[in-house]
Amino acid sequence: MHQRTPIVGGNWKMNTDLASAVELADDVVAGCAQLVQHCDIAVFPPFPYLQAVGKTLGHHGILLGAQDVYYESNGAFTGEVSGEMLVDLNVAIVLCGHSERRHVLGEDDQLVNLKARAALDAGLWITLCIGETIEQREAARTEEITLGQLQAGLDDVPIEQMRQVVIAYEPVWAIGTGRNATPEDAQAAHKAIRERLGDLYDQSVADSTRIQYGGSVKANNAAELFAQPDVDGFLVGGASLKSQEFVAIVKAAAKADHLARR
Ligand code: PGA
Repeated sequence: MHQRTPIVGGNWKMNTDLASAVELADDVVAGCAQLVQHCDIAVFPPFPYLQAVGKTLGHHGILLGAQDVYYESNGAFTGEVSGEMLVDLNVAIVLCGHSERRHVLGEDDQLVNLKARAALDAGLWITLCIGETIEQREAARTEEITLGQLQAGLDDVPIEQMRQVVIAYEPVWAIGTGRNATPEDAQAAHKAIRERLGDLYDQSVADSTRIQYGGSVKANNAAELFAQPDVDGFLVGGASLKSQEFVAIVKAAAKADHLARR
């Protein structure tokens, strides 16, 4: 089986203030610095705190992430932030197409794709987030929606840039609701995503691309989700604001016995 380094991200969303962001980053370093050989770990603070959090992360190998990016490099785009600016702040990875950006801020697949391509061209890794709403799941449209978002998000992304791409399967009905997908539901979606990556690119891309699960991941459900063969880590929202929970989730994905099975 292909060896994929697990990856766990903490999406802080529009939470923390400067002092608590630095404190949280400090606690993540204390709890996770020893785990970076086994697992890629990223935190995604709000834009204003990127620099301070980056400084706190220091050189311990934990990746600095941003929650959004604009697709132009510079110019008259009031309020937006470019990939180049993020790189300037040592940001390594950026979220694209998070469900809150799609469903609260109104981003469509085309905008998500423009952002993804711009971020990749700037040299960033991206976490492309995809997932269905409860209405879509109940109408048996999970695969159609999820794979449609995958394909649209990766439109015109060349195979050479696929090593910069992480996919996050996040069913919208599981985000912030306390209702996570069952391990079987997650595995079914992840397997379909991996197969589609094989169709869109090739088997090696399908085998090597990390697919995270996101949606009410907690310390007490991470291990059983991670035990699924196509679950390569997590994108964590609420639980990433508590350092102990986040560290426990990273530990669930960084266990050597899991790695041996991959
Ligand atoms: P949650 O959020 O863990 O709070 O459900 C996940 C996400 O939005 O990435």
